[in-house]
Amino acid sequence: MNVIEYPLSLKLYKYSCSLLSKIQAALNVIFAGFWLGILNRKTLQLADRIFYDNDSMYQDEAYNRSGFWDWEVQAIQDYFESSKKILVAGAGGGREIYALHKSGYQADGFECNPNLVEFANNFLSKEGINSQVKIAPRDTCPTFNQVYDGLIVGWGAYTNIQGKQHRIEFLKQMRSQVKNQAPLLLSFFPRKGNNLSYKLIALIGNLIRSLPWAEKIELGDSLLPHRIFVHYFTKEEIEYELNEAGFKLIFFANDNYGYAIGVVIENN
Ligand SMILES: C[S@@+](CC[C@H](N)C(=O)[O-])C[C@H]1O[C@@H](n2cnc3c(N)ncnc32)[C@H](O)[C@@H]1O
Repeated sequence: MNVIEYPLSLKLYKYSCSLLSKIQAALNVIFAGFWLGILNRKTLQLADRIFYDNDSMYQDEAYNRSGFWDWEVQAIQDYFESSKKILVAGAGGGREIYALHKSGYQADGFECNPNLVEFANNFLSKEGINSQVKIAPRDTCPTFNQVYDGLIVGWGAYTNIQGKQHRIEFLKQMRSQVKNQAPLLLSFFPRKGNNLSYKLIALIGNLIRSLPWAEKIELGDSLLPHRIFVHYFTKEEIEYELNEAGFKLIFFANDNYGYAIGVVIENN
């Protein structure tokens, strides 16, 4: 291979490109920390509501008919073979419920965004699918008065829930609706360690939230480019939250999008 000698101008250009991306990354960290400090739980939840109201994808019939992602197909095949009736959280416009029915399962769901609930129920009934999607306040699971034999926290929902204790309570409420040893599929944004960016976001956010009664930012909290709240999880966090809610972690993947399988620990 011929080696080309870089002229000085190109060397400077290359250097300034890498400097620019470092400045952009630093600004993103400051931006996320600052706004996570300023915006409280209520306003972050309103931002989430506005985002999903305006993202046309989730209210698009073709998208909701598009089926499972590859990793969902794998998880359903490997762990939900003996399940028949599944409860789906964060059901959005009904994508997972539609895909479950097409694969021979019965499924109900719940969702916190009223426009998505309305869309999902219309869409599913138009498709001749007998299923109910209930409205539920954020971070909560409504009572269905049924015993399910599998649980799915729909794509994107767990990562959007702010605060470990809220997430654990949410999982506990879901757990109360299934039988012993039932599987749970949980997906999330993965984080491989506690790198400096996450630490700085939490530091800046918590400096602003230093009043004793203010809810604190957790390590791994961030804002996506479209500015909705997300939490990035380590394996230890997923395992801890599952255990606290009464599930045993039996599978964990964090290659691209993260997902985990838990099973209900039997009540004595
Ligand atoms: C990325 S969307 C995915 C929707 C659907 N699971 C899908 O795959 O098409 C994430 C969903 O999580 C819901 N969500 C956001 N924050 C939530 C919270 N705090 N509690 C429960 N659900 C939440 C949103 O309303 C949205 O429907």
